[in-house]
Amino acid sequence: MESELNRLREEALSALAEITDSTGLEPFRVRYLGRKGGSLTTVMRKLAEVPKEERPRLGALANSVKKEITSLFEKKKQELADARDAGPAVGNLDRSLPGRYLPVGKLHPVTQVMEEICSIFEGLGFAIAEGPDVETDHYNFEALNIPKHHPARDMHDTFYVSDSILLRTHTSPMQARIMENQEPPLRYIAPGKVYRCDSDITHTPMFVQVEGFLVDRQVSFADLKGVLTSFLRRMFSKDLAVRFRPSFFPFTEPSAEVDIGCVICGGKGCRVCKRTGWIEILGSGLIDPEVMKMVGYDPDEYSGFAFGLGVERIAMLKYGIDDIRLYYENDLRFLSQF
Ligand code: PHE
Repeated sequence: MESELNRLREEALSALAEITDSTGLEPFRVRYLGRKGGSLTTVMRKLAEVPKEERPRLGALANSVKKEITSLFEKKKQELADARDAGPAVGNLDRSLPGRYLPVGKLHPVTQVMEEICSIFEGLGFAIAEGPDVETDHYNFEALNIPKHHPARDMHDTFYVSDSILLRTHTSPMQARIMENQEPPLRYIAPGKVYRCDSDITHTPMFVQVEGFLVDRQVSFADLKGVLTSFLRRMFSKDLAVRFRPSFFPFTEPSAEVDIGCVICGGKGCRVCKRTGWIEILGSGLIDPEVMKMVGYDPDEYSGFAFGLGVERIAMLKYGIDDIRLYYENDLRFLSQF
């Protein structure tokens, strides 16, 4: 029996050494340590048959073999569990190093403000439409009552692609595009990029505008004032001062530029508002009857208003940014503040 125990011990220890993953543990336990039919149990049962004098010694030996196998088995089990928690071995990887920081992306401040503008107008019942950045001379100018050689073309610093193709200088072409395809009543905003050959602290060659217009029967300047005032007050503050100043655009008549009380100094006068207390924020007016006629509307039946606003400018005022070029330098230290 003594030799049987020793052989069993040798066999169990080498079987244990060969186990490399946790699936081998249970078969080992059943085979050697199992209560029913495990090899050790079977040998130990034979103790009853050995001569009385031999029993204490063999009993002690059997117990110590069982103890040894059991404790090595438990050790193996723990080792395999630790290895599993550590994951597969990969070269000299240091698993105790802290994880790497993955920066979370954010929306560009101009995009954020544009989305806010769109959602305010959606709340007022306006639908959103988008048009091409590469536009024809026809939609950018002619259809908006700006014929060739009209002095108003000078205001636009246009990037021409060819004689008749250009990068749109404003989002107003969307007025003509939508009106010629649909019948009133219309209520649209058209956000998008526009391009002008201009660059300084308040101008970038590409910037973002939101065009808005409404056409229906009996639309008056009062409607324009009401919509724009409530938009601006939602955008900035409930008690914002708003004023409408006479202006000129070839596609609106009458036209008005809209100023808001300076949000930086509260109207007292500062560098941003050039000490006037007012900041120009958008262009607007009643749609010119000539534009209506060109898209086939009867100006005696329908009237409408239109406006165009610069998104970067609104974002600058909202966040107190004094140089428009910061938006497009892709400096994350700036962009991640919003
Ligand atoms: N399109 C004009 C601009 O970019 C703004 C404008 C839009 C004015 C609609 C009146 C009506 O300067």
